[in-house]
Amino acid sequence: MSSATSSTVSTPASDVLDRVLVLEMVRVTEAAAIAASKLIGRGDEKAADHAAVEAMRAAFDELAIDGTVVIGEGERDEAPMLYIGEKVGGAIGTGPRIDIALDPLEGTTITAKAGPNALAVLACAEQGNLLNAPDVYMDKLAVGPGYPEGIIDLAKSPTENVKAVAAAKGVEPNEIIVCVLDRPRHADLIAELRGLGCGVVLIGDGDVAGVIAVTNEDTNIDLYMGSGGAPEGVLAAAALRCVGGQFNGRLLFRNEDEKARARKWGIEDLNKIYLRDELAKGDCIFAATGVTDGSLLDGVKRRKDGTMTTHTVVMRASTGTVRWVQAEHRKVR
Ligand code: FBP
Repeated sequence: MSSATSSTVSTPASDVLDRVLVLEMVRVTEAAAIAASKLIGRGDEKAADHAAVEAMRAAFDELAIDGTVVIGEGERDEAPMLYIGEKVGGAIGTGPRIDIALDPLEGTTITAKAGPNALAVLACAEQGNLLNAPDVYMDKLAVGPGYPEGIIDLAKSPTENVKAVAAAKGVEPNEIIVCVLDRPRHADLIAELRGLGCGVVLIGDGDVAGVIAVTNEDTNIDLYMGSGGAPEGVLAAAALRCVGGQFNGRLLFRNEDEKARARKWGIEDLNKIYLRDELAKGDCIFAATGVTDGSLLDGVKRRKDGTMTTHTVVMRASTGTVRWVQAEHRKVR
């Protein structure tokens, strides 16, 4: 994982988040990951998601926070728990007020099929600092730290973005590696990238990890491109706020109902290209625990005696501190 850039270090610290122990967030994603891990490879996406949601919900209630879910499992009528607007925490009305974006199981299909890169993930920030993204698609473009600000631009073609990054890196476009979700809708994008000679890393699911991969030189991935869930876009932007890297996102609407959802959350310019810091502002905390092994984190390991090992990364924008937490859980069954 790359170290923080100077822009992330200069983010002012939040008094509200100071009162929320960063490490407490680790407990929350660990609980969701452990619960979901029991369903790895069982072919049941819903059961895995449900287990993660229940565990994350219960873990939040152990924390002395007055939390509001701003990105969650859906709207109130769609999700029984962790729905958008739901209050969570054990100090509602008295504790620090924070907004939370969460995905108790990012990669439900991955988990059901025992594939790579499933995560339990959340981001939190002071009230009003995370975009209340509707559950629509988002076109995403991300690059790792160390490039001039504005090197990537979603208004430009994939070819232009690859060429800009290649020139800044001092390599030919055919040396650039791009991560893309493997979907039929990306056929033209993949053909354009391959036409440039780029390496295309196709992932089956899990674009939060896919975006974060651009910040880790060990993955060799330079850019992330393509569409995926908007909520996952906000979570990835929060992570990049902490470790550096640039992100552009534009909401994509398939019908009038999706546009109406966006307007309901106060989004007026439906074509806006959001920069990283417009999706996640101010100080924020990002935490993710691996469910299955992946490029970012190892998954939950279960031993014969019932002990479980979890691997979590937790980071904070104001300090740029990135903590890797390996935990042994001896009393979980
Ligand atoms: P779930 O955990 O909700 O299954 O999301 C997995 C995921 O791959 C996300 O990482 C990504 O943003 C989204 O699905 C892409 O959506 P789609 O599968 O419709 O292309």
